[in-house]
Amino acid sequence: MSDALFPVPAEWAEHALIDSATYLEKYQRSIDDAAGFWRDEAQRIDWIEPFHTVKDTSFDEADFHIRWFEGGKLNITANALDRHLETRGDQVAIIWEPDNPSETVRKITYRELHRDVCRFANVLKSRGVKKGDRVTIYLPMVPEAAISMLACARIGAVHSVVFAGFSPDALAGRIEDCQSNIVITADEGLRGGKPIPLKANVDAACDKVAVETVIMLRRTGADVQIVSGRDVDWTEVMDGASSDCPAELMDAEDPLFILYTSGSTGKPKGVLHTTGGYAVWTSMTHQYVFDYKPNADGKMPVYWCAADVGWVTGHSYVVYAPLINGATQVMFEGVPNFPDHSRFWEVIDKHQVEIFYAAPTALRALMREGDEWVTKTSRKSLRLLGSVGEPINPEAWDWYHRVVGDRRCPIVDTWWQTETGGAMITPLPGATALKPGSASKPMFGVKPEIVDNDGNIQAGATDGPLVITDSWPGQMRTVYGDHDRFFQTYFNTFPGMYFTGDGCKRDEDGYYWITGRIDDVINVSGHRMGTAEVESALVAHDSVSEAAVVGMPHDIKGQGIYAYVTTNADVEDTEDLRAELVKWVRKEIGPIATPDAIQFAPGLPKTRSGKIMRRILRKIAENDVSNLGDTSTLADPSVVDDLLANRKK
Ligand code: WTA
Repeated sequence: MSDALFPVPAEWAEHALIDSATYLEKYQRSIDDAAGFWRDEAQRIDWIEPFHTVKDTSFDEADFHIRWFEGGKLNITANALDRHLETRGDQVAIIWEPDNPSETVRKITYRELHRDVCRFANVLKSRGVKKGDRVTIYLPMVPEAAISMLACARIGAVHSVVFAGFSPDALAGRIEDCQSNIVITADEGLRGGKPIPLKANVDAACDKVAVETVIMLRRTGADVQIVSGRDVDWTEVMDGASSDCPAELMDAEDPLFILYTSGSTGKPKGVLHTTGGYAVWTSMTHQYVFDYKPNADGKMPVYWCAADVGWVTGHSYVVYAPLINGATQVMFEGVPNFPDHSRFWEVIDKHQVEIFYAAPTALRALMREGDEWVTKTSRKSLRLLGSVGEPINPEAWDWYHRVVGDRRCPIVDTWWQTETGGAMITPLPGATALKPGSASKPMFGVKPEIVDNDGNIQAGATDGPLVITDSWPGQMRTVYGDHDRFFQTYFNTFPGMYFTGDGCKRDEDGYYWITGRIDDVINVSGHRMGTAEVESALVAHDSVSEAAVVGMPHDIKGQGIYAYVTTNADVEDTEDLRAELVKWVRKEIGPIATPDAIQFAPGLPKTRSGKIMRRILRKIAENDVSNLGDTSTLADPSVVDDLLANRKK
C-alpha cells in the first residue's frame, strides 16, 4: 500500500457534478433513504409507464428475490437513441478508429445510429427473432457490434455477446447454454494487423450446435465459406430493411442481456442483467465517475473506453451508459501496440479525447517500452483517466498519472464485476482524494463490508473477504437457466450478503484496497479465467490424466496461468508435449487462456480424502516456498519435494 495522497484538484472540486460535501450527503441519503434516492436518480431514464415500487429485494434464502423499479415500462434504446434525436441527432455518437490508422475513420451520428439500429432490428424480426429470444453476437470492435446489441434491445431479444477471442468450442458452449439459434459475426476480425477467422470459428461451432441463421458482416473481404440457407450477408439484408421500428415495451425486470463469465467451479455462468435497474445504474455511474456533462461550449467531451464489447466494461461503458448519456465516444478496433507503442496516445490526440478509461495490463505493457512513446505525443486534451479490471499497482498508477496524465488528470480506479453491472467502489474526480492503488470509496447505494471467515462484519481498518450487504439496481438477477447456482455462488458463503470473491483491505480513512480474487478465479490481463475451465481443457487431452491450475504473479498480465499436469503412465513428459498442451488449451478455450507455465507432476498434493491442496500449489507457483504451511495432512507428503524440485521458472 502506498501512502501517497493526491488531493482533489481545485478546478475539479469547483466544477465537477459531485464535490466532497455532495458525495457525503448523497451517499448518506442513498443508504438512509434508498427508495427516495433511487426514485430521484431513476428520473434520468424516460419511463413509458412509471414504476410503482422502487426496491423490493432480499438476500435471505427463505425470501430470496431482487426486483427494482417494478411496474416501470421502458425501452433502453429509446433512452440511448430516440430521445437524443431532437437535441443531438447530428452529434457524433461513435468515432470508430480502425485497427490500421491509415484506414478511414467512421463517424456515426445519433440519427444514423438510430436508423441502423432500427433497420437491423427489422432484419432480426424478419429472421423470426422475437422478444425473449437469445441472439449470439460474435463480432470484433466495429460499430455493428453496438448496432447488433441495441437492435436486440430494441425488440426485446436478449443478446449474448461472446468475446471474439474465444475458440469455436467456447462459442459453441455458450450458444448451446442459452439456446440461441442465430449468430451475428464477421468474415474476419482485425487486431494488430492480424486477421482473426471469426466466420470459420462460427462454422466450426455450428458443427457442434444447431444454428438456423448466421448474419455475417464483411470486415476484411476474406474468402469464407457460405452455407446456403443458413448464412446471410449483413449489407444485403440491411439494404432492404425499413428504418421504422417502434421500440418494444419492456418491463423494468425483463432480461436485457446474458454475458458469460468464469467462476470458481464448472462451466462459465450466463450472468443475466435486466432492463430498468441496469439503465439507471450504468448511466448514473457513468455520469458521476467520469463527471460526464457538456463542456462550457455546450459540446459533449470526447470519451474513450478502450474495453472490448465482449466484456462487461464494453457493455456498460461503451454501449449502454455513454449512449444513454448522449456521449461522443471513440470506439477502437485495434490494440495498444500497433502499429507502435504510441497508438493510444496518438488516438487521443487525433480525436481530442478528454476522458480515457483502460485496463492496468495495457498500461504495464506500454510502461515497459519507455516514456518516449508517450511524451512525443501531446495529450493536452486529456482531463480524466480511468482504470478497470484488476488492481492497479502503485508503479503503474504513478506512470499513468505522471507520464500519461502529466500530473494533471485524476485517475478513477473503478472496482466492479460482470455481476455488478457498473462501478461499485471508485473515486469521483471532484470528490475523492486519491490513493494510488485504492479503489477508494463506495458508489451511491453500495454497502461494502469486510467480514471474517465466519461472516462477521469487521469494523474499522481491517482486511478479509469483501461482501455487499444490500442490493443495488445494476445487480445481476440470475444465472441464466440456473437460479439455484446464482444463490449458491453468491449468497451462500456468507448468508444474507453478496460475496464478491475478492479480498480487500480497508484503511483508517475508510479507503478500500482490492487485493484480488480469493476464490479459484484468476485475473489474466483483466480477464477472468476459472482454474476449473483450464483444468478441464487440459484433461480433455489424450495424454493428460490430471491437472491443477493456479495463478502466478506476472509483470504484465497481473496474473499468469500456472498448470501442474500429470500425464498418463505410458506418456513421456517432453518439451514437445508441453508446447502441444499450450496449443491445445488455446484451441479449446482461446488465446486468453494460454498457460504461462506447465509443470509436469507425477503426483499432486492431495489430502487423504483426495482433495487437492491448492494452497501448496499456489505457493510453489508464486515461488513462496519457504512458507508452505502444514503438509502433514497430505496423503503422500513426498510429492511436495518433487514439485519443488521441478518448479518452472
Ligand atoms: C477485478 C470487470 C481491483 C476483481 C469490470 C473483480 C478489480 C474482477 C478492479 C471482475 C479494480 C475489477 N481493482 N480489482 N479497479 N476492477 N477487478 O467480471 O477481482 O471481468 O472481482 O469485471 O476483476 O472482473 P469482471
